[in-house]
Amino acid sequence: MGCGYVGLPLALRFAEAGHRVTGFDTDPEKVKMLNAGKSYIEHIQQTKIQQYVNSKHFQATTDFERLRDVDAIIICVPTPLNEYREPDLSYVEDTAKAIQPHLQKGQLVVLESTTYPGTTEELVLPILEKSGLRCPIAAGPENDNVPGDFFLAFSPEREDPGNKQYGLAQIPKVVGGVNPPSGRAAQALYTQVVAKVVPVSSTRAAEMAKLLENIFRCVNIALVNELKQLCLRMGVDVWEVIDAASSKPFGFMPFYPGPGLGGHCIPVDPFYLSWKAREYDFATRFIELAGEVNTQMPYHVVDALAEALNQHQKSLKGSKVLILGVAYKKDVDDLRESPTLKIMEILKKRGAEFDYNDPYFPKLHKMRHYDYSDMKSVPLNAETLGKYDAALIATDHSGYDYAAIVDGSKLVVDTRNATRRVTRHRDRIVPC
Ligand SMILES: NC(=O)c1ccc[n+]([C@@H]2O[C@H](COP(=O)([O-])OP(=O)(O)OC[C@H]3O[C@@H](n4cnc5c(N)ncnc54)[C@H](O)[C@@H]3O)[C@@H](O)[C@H]2O)c1
Repeated sequence: MGCGYVGLPLALRFAEAGHRVTGFDTDPEKVKMLNAGKSYIEHIQQTKIQQYVNSKHFQATTDFERLRDVDAIIICVPTPLNEYREPDLSYVEDTAKAIQPHLQKGQLVVLESTTYPGTTEELVLPILEKSGLRCPIAAGPENDNVPGDFFLAFSPEREDPGNKQYGLAQIPKVVGGVNPPSGRAAQALYTQVVAKVVPVSSTRAAEMAKLLENIFRCVNIALVNELKQLCLRMGVDVWEVIDAASSKPFGFMPFYPGPGLGGHCIPVDPFYLSWKAREYDFATRFIELAGEVNTQMPYHVVDALAEALNQHQKSLKGSKVLILGVAYKKDVDDLRESPTLKIMEILKKRGAEFDYNDPYFPKLHKMRHYDYSDMKSVPLNAETLGKYDAALIATDHSGYDYAAIVDGSKLVVDTRNATRRVTRHRDRIVPC
C-alpha cells in the first residue's frame, strides 16, 4: 500500500522473485501510469514495470476491496511532520482504516513507514482489531505459538535512492512482530526478496532501530556542518581533514558537510522520537541540537554568498545568482526537504535575483512549504553563466562540468567541494 519511493521498488522486487503483486495507491494518476507500464520515479526503469505488468506479476489499483485477496499487506505510506514539526500519522491511520473492513484471517500486515516506537501496537493494531479479528501483543519463548487471527509486524525500509552499490535485495531487513508468530510470518515473507533478515523481539525494537540509524546520520552531519564553519574561520580545509581522519581503519566513519539537511528521512524522522520522548518526560538533546545546527546551514550559505559578493563590491540585494542543483543530493530527482528550497526563500527575502539549473528538474512544481511553480531550469553554458554575479553550487550532480562552470562564472560559491579538482581560476571559487 503506497506505490512511492519505497513501495514501488519493493513491489517490483516481489514481482521479480515470482510473486503476484498488487500495488494499492490512493492516487489514480499513479495507478493509471503503473498499469500502462510507466514510471514516475527517475531511478525506477519503465521497462521493469512493463515487464511485470505484461507477465501479470504486477498490477496497480485504487480498489481496496481487493485487499481481501492477498496473503500479505505491506504499508509504505508517508509519515511527514505537520506544521508544528509533530508526527503526522494520518496516512498510516487512513491506511489501517482502509484495511480493517477487508482484513482476513491468516493475513499478514507489515508497517514499513518510518515512525516512533509504539506506532504498530498503539495505532495500527487497535484499528485492525476493530474488524473483530485478534492479534495479541506477546513476547518471549512462552508465547512462541500464541494463537491469533492475523499477523502484524514492523519492518523499516532502508532504501537509499540512487545508491547503485546497495539495492533493496542486498540491504538486510530488520523485522519485529507484535508476537512471535507475527515475527516469523514477516521473516518468511522478506526472506523471499532480501539476502538477510534480522529478527528483533518486538515491533518497538524494529521501529527504534530505524530511528537510531537516521538519528546517527543526522547528529554526525550536524557535527561536520558545525566543524566546517569553524574550519572556514580558521582557514583549514574541512574536506582535507575528513579525508585524513578517514584513513583511520577503525572507529571513524566519514560524514560530509553541505548546505543543510535534505531528503525525506534525515530531516524528519528524528523528530518522531523527540515527540514521543516527551510522553516519557525525556528530552532528546542530541536530536534538538543537531536539528538546530542543520537548520541553520542554508542561512550560513546565504551569508557566505553575501560576503563573497561583498568582496566583489556587490550587495546581495539586486545581485543575480545562478543556483546549481535543487535536488537534495546529487544525481537524484528528489526535491523533498531540499536545502536549496530554503536557500531560495532566504535569497528572495534578502532581495537577490536568482535562477536555477538542475538536469533532473526542467521545471519546479508547487510543494507543501514552497511554491516555485513558475520557475524553469535555465540552460547551463558560458553565455548564461556570464550573466550572473555568482553561481552557487548547492548540489554536486556528477553530470556538471565544474571546470567549465568556473571558467564561465565571475564567482562560484561551492557548498559541496565540487570544484576540488578544478585547477583554473581558483581565485573565483569560495568554499562554503
Ligand atoms: N524515500 C525514502 O528513501 C525512504 C527511505 C526509508 C524509509 N522511508 C519511509 O517510507 C515511507 C514511505 O515513503 P515514500 O518515500 O515511499 O513516500 P512517497 O510519498 O513516495 O509514497 C507514498 C505513496 O503512498 C500513497 N498513499 C498515501 N496514502 C495512501 C493510502 N491511504 N493508501 C494507499 N496509498 C496511499 C501516495 O499516493 C504515494 O504514492 C515513509 O514513512 C518514509 O519515511 C522512505
